[in-house]
Amino acid sequence: MKSYIIVDSSKIIGKKNPHLFGSFLEHVHQCLYPGIFDPDSPLADENGFRKDVLNEIKRLKPGTVRWPGGNFSSWYHWIDGTGKQENRKRKLSYADDITREESNLFGTDEYIRFCRKVGTQPYITVNAGNGTALEAANWVEYCNSSGNTFYANLRKENGSQQPFNVRYWEIGNEIYGDWQIGTKSAVQYSQVLSEFSKAMKRVDPSIRIIAVGMGKHNPDWDRIILNSARDYIDDISVHVYIGRHEYFDSFGQVFTIADHLKKMEDDIIKISEEKRTNHRIGLALSEWGIWYRKGHKDDLDEVYNLKDALVFASSMNLLLRFCRTLDFTHQSMLVNCLGLMRTRKDALVRQTIYYPFVLFANETGDTVLSPDVWSETFSCKDYRYFPWPTFDVDKDSFQIDERNVPEMHNVPYLDVSATYDSETNKLTIIVVNRHPEKDLTTSVDLRGYSYGNTVSVSVIDGPDVYAVNDFGKETVKMEECQEKIKTGSFQWDFPAHSITMLKIQLKKQND
Ligand code: AHR
Ligand code: AHR
Repeated sequence: MKSYIIVDSSKIIGKKNPHLFGSFLEHVHQCLYPGIFDPDSPLADENGFRKDVLNEIKRLKPGTVRWPGGNFSSWYHWIDGTGKQENRKRKLSYADDITREESNLFGTDEYIRFCRKVGTQPYITVNAGNGTALEAANWVEYCNSSGNTFYANLRKENGSQQPFNVRYWEIGNEIYGDWQIGTKSAVQYSQVLSEFSKAMKRVDPSIRIIAVGMGKHNPDWDRIILNSARDYIDDISVHVYIGRHEYFDSFGQVFTIADHLKKMEDDIIKISEEKRTNHRIGLALSEWGIWYRKGHKDDLDEVYNLKDALVFASSMNLLLRFCRTLDFTHQSMLVNCLGLMRTRKDALVRQTIYYPFVLFANETGDTVLSPDVWSETFSCKDYRYFPWPTFDVDKDSFQIDERNVPEMHNVPYLDVSATYDSETNKLTIIVVNRHPEKDLTTSVDLRGYSYGNTVSVSVIDGPDVYAVNDFGKETVKMEECQEKIKTGSFQWDFPAHSITMLKIQLKKQND
């Protein structure tokens, strides 16, 4: 069977937030220290940042980088990370299940410097665990105020005359969970939201507030927040981690992400209608990624294979389709833990998922289209994280009740997104061929567009679906070239287990 892709210029889903594809930097395991900050590395710059890692992040171009956690934020007192580094106090961090030592050498000033160096927008998660609304408001003052007050002056004393202008502030992290310091019920958290949001917005009314949501993990939580605290928030978040070893079932998990986002979108619309309000609430997928937990629930040290890169690209195709409501997504995380890269003291390796991130964050346009796709199909199971798998201590792994696992049929091997960029007048088509063995010959039909006969092509591929990248050995990589095409409609062979981006310069109306 031949495959077909039709991209029609009139089939528009909506506009994409330019910051949509972000990432996450947490003080956890090897992510921040030494992944980003390691003054002892021969590769460190004058600030102690790893130069090689910063260069890769510049290429990845995440729209926002969420910091400092994660669970870490439910314990973190930002003032500890300010002032001269030699005077900062080392503290015990008991934010997660594992108690660690925190040097506090990387604090707010270092974070902002990091954001400026790599060209990303800051996105801060404040401590709603054992922190207070006052502490959070003081943090906003430290970052955003130009006045003559204590915290604004403290920032100036620390070397930054100009405000940092941090626009995005999330209140707490997974505050519903027992693993969190300061766990709260939905009713308690709604109260926290109104207190924090009021105090923080009075310091700077231009900030956006993101609330902790649960998606399908617990829809009642979201409804309670949306009913009682909606006037105080601008976005509601959800965290979704996926990861299956079985080849086809791992694609089934993309439906899990869709499920969470759809459920939340429906609730937002329903409650806005009931409340008769025009105050827009958006969605933030404030942590997502592939996390197998390799049998142990806190194992964050994932090595990704080509299959994971395909799942990752399919997930990002899906995220584009939610562009009308989805404001932020944070792939978890930048380095080492579930990372886009892994580091050693003197070396770095790009994981397989690095390359799809580059394409989606850098190459997708501002308008998301809805292409039609026909291809051979496969069946898979969707091992959704709902109900949450339970951790079996004896087996030292997560267990899922197989009776609750839905089956998906007629899932096309080709997974396609199309975006148009009004600034460059280019069309970007990203095609994931999920067939593990077969190249798929496809007829690509672009309707309503006029274009020349060349296309810029990027292909991410590797020798087989379980191929991984290691230090000094990159087997899954991206290759780029220019190819000739016929205008109107053309044939394309999408290689087995690959991600292909076709980027086409369109002609102006009067060309
Ligand atoms: O990514 C590690 C942890 O996973 C984060 O701290 C937490 O938010 C999530 O559950
Ligand atoms: O699934 C929740 C996560 O499980 C917590 O964030 C993490 O600490 C634990 O491993």
